[in-house]
This record gives sequence, C-alpha cells and structure tokens, in this order.
Amino acid sequence: MIDIGGAWNPGTPTRSLYHFKLLIMLCETFGFHLAQDFYWWNPSRLPTPAEWVTVRRIRVKDAIDAVWWFSKTPWPKASNRRVLQPYSKSMRELLKKGYRAKKRPSGHDISDKFAVDNGAAIPPNLIAIPNTESNSYYLRYCQERGITPHPARYPAALPEYFIRMLTDEGDRVLDPFAGSRVTGEVCERLQRRWLCVELVEEYLLGARGRFERTGGPEPETKAASDEDDTYYRMPHPGILWNGATDEPLSADGGKTRRVSADPARNSGQTAPFRPSSSRPAPLLDLLEAEAEPATPAKPSRDQSSRQ
Ligand SMILES: C[S@@+](CC[C@H](N)C(=O)[O-])C[C@H]1O[C@@H](n2cnc3c(N)ncnc32)[C@H](O)[C@@H]1O
Repeated sequence: MIDIGGAWNPGTPTRSLYHFKLLIMLCETFGFHLAQDFYWWNPSRLPTPAEWVTVRRIRVKDAIDAVWWFSKTPWPKASNRRVLQPYSKSMRELLKKGYRAKKRPSGHDISDKFAVDNGAAIPPNLIAIPNTESNSYYLRYCQERGITPHPARYPAALPEYFIRMLTDEGDRVLDPFAGSRVTGEVCERLQRRWLCVELVEEYLLGARGRFERTGGPEPETKAASDEDDTYYRMPHPGILWNGATDEPLSADGGKTRRVSADPARNSGQTAPFRPSSSRPAPLLDLLEAEAEPATPAKPSRDQSSRQ
C-alpha cells in the first residue's frame, strides 16, 4: 500500500506528475499489479495550497490522498467482508419497503436479489477519515518528554482498514516509512507481526509511547454511537448554483494577484447565498452509493440542461 498525496509544482497552480509516473513505473518496470486504487478523503483538511485556493481562488481544496494497493500477483489475498459498513438510511428504507426489480436509469438491470439484507454494505474505494487527533496518549507522551510529535501522522483507521482487509493474524506487516509507528500500534492491537523503518530518530523516541502505555495500545477505532458520528455528508455540487450571474473569469487564469474591493472575497469567504425556490437542495451521502432511491428524483430544469 502506498499513500501518496501528490504535490504541486512550485510557483504555479499545477500538479506534479511524479506520483503518476511512480505508479506507472512500479507496474511497468517493476512488475507490480495495481490491485485497486483507493482515495482517502480527509474532511478536516485545511484549504491548501492557500495561495491558489483561498487567495486567488483559482483551485479547490486539495483534500484527497491516493492510496494504491500494489500486489505481486493479480490475486493477492483479500476480503471486503473485513471492512463492511452500516447500511445507509436510504438502503435501510429500501430493505424495509422492498425493491421492485427493474432497469435503472444507469442501464443496470437490478434483480430482486439487490434487496437482500446482508447485514452491512460493501464500502466504496473512497475512505473518509478526518485527521484530527489532538489528545492521544502518544501526544501526551511526547509533550511530557519534550519530544516533537511527528508532524504528518496518519489516523490509525487508515492503516487499520488495509491491515484488516489484506492480512490475517500472525502475518507480518512492513512499514518502511514508519514515522510515529502508528502501523506498529495497529498491528499490536490486531495481532499481526510488524516491522517499521524510520530515518529520524526523534520520531522513534516519540513512537515508544505507543508501546509503553500500560494496558496495551490505545484503540483509536471509533465506536459508532450514532449515524452522525459515522457518516460524512457532502453537498451535491449544484446546491448553490442559483442562477445568479457569475463574476467574469480572469482572462490570465489568476496569474495577476488581484485584491478585491470586497474584503469578504479577500478573506476567502463566499458571497451570501440566496436560495433559489426552483432548485431542490439534494445532499449526496458519500457512503450511500450502494443504493439508488427507489424513485429517482426528477432533475431540475437547470440540472438537465447541463447534461
Ligand atoms: C508521512 S511520514 C509517515 C507517517 C506515519 N505513517 C505515521 O502515521 O506516523 C513518512 C516518514 O518517512 C520517513 N522517511 C523518509 N525517507 C525515509 C527513508 N529513506 N527511510 C526511512 N524512513 C524514511 C520520514 O522521516 C517520515 O517520518
């Protein structure tokens, strides 16, 4: 597994192609198979790169890391049953009310087997985990000893997802860029053997805290208390398209740094939203992808004209 956020080319609002080249090289030169590409969405990611996103307003927030699963054969061991998710509200309703087998607008022919309650849903390859750890034993351990905590720690649920899906108890996991050894901590908890390599000694000194804690490693997996705690909702991209006339785009693509007379625009705030009575306000639930509503909502006039 490789988590790689990608990078921006210095000084221009364009992306480096490095990580795509790496992917091609690992497969075409070194013979790995790309078993699947995942995308880790960090809902708490700050709006960066600030110059392009909040100052010139010419790019959107960079909030996704690509997480690539490479395998030595096309058939690495794996089970998606290890990472199932609760059914979404719409799917639960569908299971309750029953599903009328028919051809979907997408062209897929869905049989009545679709409405079988399997207890949980198969997740999409988009993984939503906020990176908001602020009060862990690890951080307290570092603080008490004057050790600088690792600045780019992953949420434990990220390695945990793949360790659960792709390994069995007793298997060995190698993390060659271990940082604060969050992978090691997860492996201890899940009874996998592990090996971590890290260049910076101070990170390893801090990482000791993960294993010296009495009572074993700290479980970071969030126990689901209710749906609001387990689902991240993302607005439909059209929710604010209200027919208002847009400000003309800068012909130079934002190359000239302009300061607007409107202070709200400079501070990155959006203009006040005036809702349109004709537009429905649909919300896409990212994790509801396994079910389409029984009766799809009619697209609004504005939406259909964009297709
Ligand atoms: C993104 S961090 C990993 C963070 C880690 N997953 C965690 O949650 O704490 C990448 C780490 O790789 C280390 N690193 C970079 N090059 C390395 C190398 N050649 N050998 C070993 N470690 C290296 C860096 O010092 C850094 O701590």
